[in-house]
Amino acid sequence: MTVAAIVPAAGRGERLGLGRPKALAVVGGLTLVARAVDGLVEGGVDVVVVVAPPGGEDEFRAALDHRRATVVPGADDRVGSVAAALGAVPRDAEVVLVHDAARCLCPPEVVRAVIDAVRAGHRAVVPATPVADTLKRTGPAGVVIATVDRTGLAAVQTPQGFDPATLRAAHEHARSGRDAGGPVTATDDAGLAEEIGVSVATVPGDPRAFKVTTPLDLAMAEALVAAATAGAS
Ligand code: CTP
Ligand code: MG
Repeated sequence: MTVAAIVPAAGRGERLGLGRPKALAVVGGLTLVARAVDGLVEGGVDVVVVVAPPGGEDEFRAALDHRRATVVPGADDRVGSVAAALGAVPRDAEVVLVHDAARCLCPPEVVRAVIDAVRAGHRAVVPATPVADTLKRTGPAGVVIATVDRTGLAAVQTPQGFDPATLRAAHEHARSGRDAGGPVTATDDAGLAEEIGVSVATVPGDPRAFKVTTPLDLAMAEALVAAATAGAS
């Protein structure tokens, strides 16, 4: 029974602004991509495919050190980067996860819950958390048009889990739509699965699975790791 994971890590990290790929940013002495891979393996993943910026494969292999992961070159956008990794997912995989390197502190329990839900028969699974902020729809000049009813809204995270045939079919559909000049609206892999009519299940997410996007997020990750280290000693 093989559980595989794709780790998209080919982004430039422009909002973080370090001048190098975000996945190579260091928190508590370890790169985000190495932390993400460790969390996946601890959560029960057997095979990891990391997607690096094209030309950066060797630098990523070095960052991953002794970790068992295949490194492949990515694409201009996240959907393309995930698609580029599908060919390196073993054919016998029973479950495939897609997990942003930027969500490097996702607890292994979330990984386990996603895997278990796919094994239980769900074709697509996302970790979901309640939305805390009040949401407004705004119009021209930022004027509020309406307050959005928060009932039934969820913020979703990664890892997202799939039965491999479903993930392949979803990306194949997205690629043919794009080749035909259609709009690409989905911003995550579960969204691509929804577009082919797949029902997406949720499991409880975790605030620690937040995405490192800005310098503030990096400071928060640093503080969380420091607190965990202090608690462990
Ligand atoms: N990603 C990727 N390939 C891309 C773009 C993004 O593999 N062409 C990955 C990122 O490396 C990240 C995840 O998708 O792990 C989520 O993307 P995001 O947080 O937007 O990261 P970046 O694109 O690197 O950041 P920014 O948008 O600020 O440049
Ligand atoms: Mg981006």
